[in-house]
Amino acid sequence: MQQAIAILDSGVGGLTVAKEIMRQLPQEKILYFGDTARAPYGPRDAEEVITFTHQIVDYLLQYQPKMIVIACNTATAVAIEEIRARLPVPVVGVIHPGARAAIKSTRNQFVGVIGTEGTIRSGAYEQALRQISPQIQVVSMACPQFVPLVERGQFRADRTTQIVADTLESLSSVPLDCLILGCTHYPFLSDAIAQAMGPNVKLISSADETAREVSTILYHKGMLAKSPVIPVHQFFCSGDPVMFRMIAQSWLNEQIRVTPVVWQVP
Ligand code: SIN
Repeated sequence: MQQAIAILDSGVGGLTVAKEIMRQLPQEKILYFGDTARAPYGPRDAEEVITFTHQIVDYLLQYQPKMIVIACNTATAVAIEEIRARLPVPVVGVIHPGARAAIKSTRNQFVGVIGTEGTIRSGAYEQALRQISPQIQVVSMACPQFVPLVERGQFRADRTTQIVADTLESLSSVPLDCLILGCTHYPFLSDAIAQAMGPNVKLISSADETAREVSTILYHKGMLAKSPVIPVHQFFCSGDPVMFRMIAQSWLNEQIRVTPVVWQVP
C-alpha cells in the first residue's frame, strides 16, 4: 500500500494546502481530515487546540502516513512542537513557509498578517518573520468573522465581500506591500481580500510554499511516491459530510468521497 501524506485542519481551510500539494506532487496519495464539528479553532484556547490536534493526529496514524501536514495556522502556532517531538515521521506546519514567502516578496519590509484570534495572539508570524529578517515591520490583525463564512460555504456571497471590506478597512492606511493570509481558510476569500487591499498589496498564501517544503523534505528523505498509478485520496470530516463535500468538490474541481468521523464534541 502506498504511504500517504496526511493533512489536517479545523475544517475546509487546509484544502487550499491539499490542492497545491496535489498539483505539485500528483503521484502522492492524500489523507485529509477536517475537524468541521469543532471549527473554528481560532477562538478556542491553546490547550484545547493542542488536545484536538493530538486527537486528529492519533486518528490519522492508523493509516501509517509518511508525513503529517498541519494545514491550520492556529494549530501550527500552538501544537507543532509537541506533535513533532512525539512522531517518528516529518511534521510540516504552515507558518514558516508563509513567513518565508512574505520575506521573498516584500520590497519595503512592511508586512501585514491576518489570521484567527489564536494565531494572532500567539505572535507566531512575528517570531517567524523576525527570525529570518529582524528589521521587518509587521502589522497583525485578527479577522474572527472570516472562517465561519467559509465553513458555511458563503465565500462567494456579496455580503461576504462587504464584511471582508469592512474588516480590512483599517489596514488601508498602513503602507504594506504584502499581506500574509495567516489562516488556510482565507484563500477562499482571496478575491474579496484583494479587492479590499487594492493592487499594490500582494497576497501571500502559505499553500504554495508549504507544498514546496513537503516536496523538498520527501525528496531529500527519498520518500517521494514512485508508483505511476493515480492515487485515490481519502477525506474525513467530523461534522456535516454533505457541506464538507460540497465545499471540497467546488474548491478541488473533482468528485470526492467523504468518510464521516464521529466523536464527542466538547
Ligand atoms: C480556525 O479554525 O479558526 C482557522 C484555522 C486556521 O487558523 O488556519
